[in-house]
Amino acid sequence: MPDGHVTGLEHAPAVLEQARATAAARGVENIRFAVGDVHALDFPDDTFCVTHAHQVLQHVGDPVQALREMRRVTKPGGIVAVRDSDYATMTWYPEVEGMDGWLDLYRRVARANGGEPDAGRRLHAWARQAGFPPESITASASTWCYRTPEERVWWSELWADRTVASSYARLAVDGGHATTEELSRIAAAWREWGAQEDGWFAMLHGEVLCRV
Ligand SMILES: C[S@@+](CC[C@H](N)C(=O)[O-])C[C@H]1O[C@@H](n2cnc3c(N)ncnc32)[C@H](O)[C@@H]1O
Repeated sequence: MPDGHVTGLEHAPAVLEQARATAAARGVENIRFAVGDVHALDFPDDTFCVTHAHQVLQHVGDPVQALREMRRVTKPGGIVAVRDSDYATMTWYPEVEGMDGWLDLYRRVARANGGEPDAGRRLHAWARQAGFPPESITASASTWCYRTPEERVWWSELWADRTVASSYARLAVDGGHATTEELSRIAAAWREWGAQEDGWFAMLHGEVLCRV
């Protein structure tokens, strides 16, 4: 839609600054950014043709309320589109000591922070609870797979860094879920997996397209 306009909404102002810089660097001008909370969107009813949340609802305290808000701000005939991963489905090869501990820790910390790491499988149910009639909901699933050396390095370094230096790492330690030494061991496990020539990692996402 070359004549369309996009509004990017984000809770964390610092992330929004990065998005603004990326859009400016790419010469994208039909976009504006707003700080906001998906539970209570600061837009009138029937504002957007498409309202999309990608890997967001797994982090929020009330995903059903978020979907109600997304529906409210979408025009009749428009679409609410959501995709979230489902952590319990994440699987990899070969087995590396510490990786199972990573998944268990991540899911515990995410839940302690009010989120639902296995959101993917729940999206269609949340959409129905938010008031979308079943016949207006199209549910699907897709996968991501990391296999090439470049993909393995990117994915393993992302998680190794996130495990020791991020808001997730702080929550893990402050909440008593892990010590900094345990986080360092998990980061090392990620790097060890990333260095495996036969390394393979896959995850499942749940998706819904809801007609308003
Ligand atoms: C995993 S990131 C996904 C970012 C991006 N959509 C993507 O797919 O790469 C989740 C984002 O949701 C934002 N977020 C969390 N809770 C939110 C809320 N209540 N309202 C709006 N954004 C929120 C976080 O700040 C974070 O930037």
